[in-house]
Amino acid sequence: WPVFADDVDAILALKRERNAVILAHNYQTPEIFHCVADVVGDSLALASKAVATDADIIVLAGVHFMAETAKLLNPDKTVLIPDLGAGCSLADSITPEDVRLMRASYPGVPIVTYVNTSAAVKAESDVCCTSGNARRIVEKLGVPRVIMLPDEYLARNIAAETDVEIIAWKGHCEVHERFSPAEVRQLREDHPGVVVLAHPECPPEVVAEADFSGSTALMSDYVAEHRPARVVLLTECSMSDNVAVQHPTVDFVRPCNLCPHMKRITLANIRKALETGQHEVTIDPAVAAPARRAVERMLEL
Ligand code: 13P
Ligand code: SF4
Repeated sequence: WPVFADDVDAILALKRERNAVILAHNYQTPEIFHCVADVVGDSLALASKAVATDADIIVLAGVHFMAETAKLLNPDKTVLIPDLGAGCSLADSITPEDVRLMRASYPGVPIVTYVNTSAAVKAESDVCCTSGNARRIVEKLGVPRVIMLPDEYLARNIAAETDVEIIAWKGHCEVHERFSPAEVRQLREDHPGVVVLAHPECPPEVVAEADFSGSTALMSDYVAEHRPARVVLLTECSMSDNVAVQHPTVDFVRPCNLCPHMKRITLANIRKALETGQHEVTIDPAVAAPARRAVERMLEL
């Protein structure tokens, strides 16, 4: 605590002075998640809570696509990301041109785009989804076939749960693709009775070995509801650290796959963002309008 106290105190004071809020993703480190964030959650919660704030400034403690989504939903507010290099391997896996080519290859098939994409890719899409609502969005469209971009594993995991045919892209999350079925079996052998929760960005063979699969918020809800004696969350490392604080009686097994993009955000650069107003997220209005429609359609559905 003493190591962080200066930055935490400064951030809390700056938030009051500037009428700012901090939205933090579940993968942020515990000192951000527990000490300075106003809203914490999965991508869906951050997108929907971003609409509700009356602050003048939103600091997004997460990755760039999350800050863009907050900006899309709050065009008149200042949205800051403490490090512009906080990207995402899924967002980097697809371009707007790729989406146009997919549309041309499958005329009339709706394009459902994961929020882990740039605003320019969202702008080419019909509707967005998150890992927390992907199945619902796909089914609510009421069509026999959809294109789901860009996460191949999320698309295949949702395809296993629904009758809707899903055409996938080839993007992967560099954190979740590293989990393997052999690792899950080893975890069960080493930690008898462990309950295995997997994020749907994991390969389908890993999800098949798990006891439950869901977004980061759904994993957290699972632990709160079931209070397993021992659990492992197959997702980014900080998630277990954050959830474990709320459940001191649960034994968390913690293999650590770290997201280097999420870890670019620190207390020091959050403080700097509030002090200097850097880095402001802006989106070309010609891109923002269609991208916003895709995100808003998701929230409506
Ligand atoms: P969630 O929406 O489940 O929080 O996932 C976001 C993400 O980036 C997972 O890698
Ligand atoms: Fe992107 Fe994966 Fe990092 Fe999430 S964990 S931000 S999907 S690279």
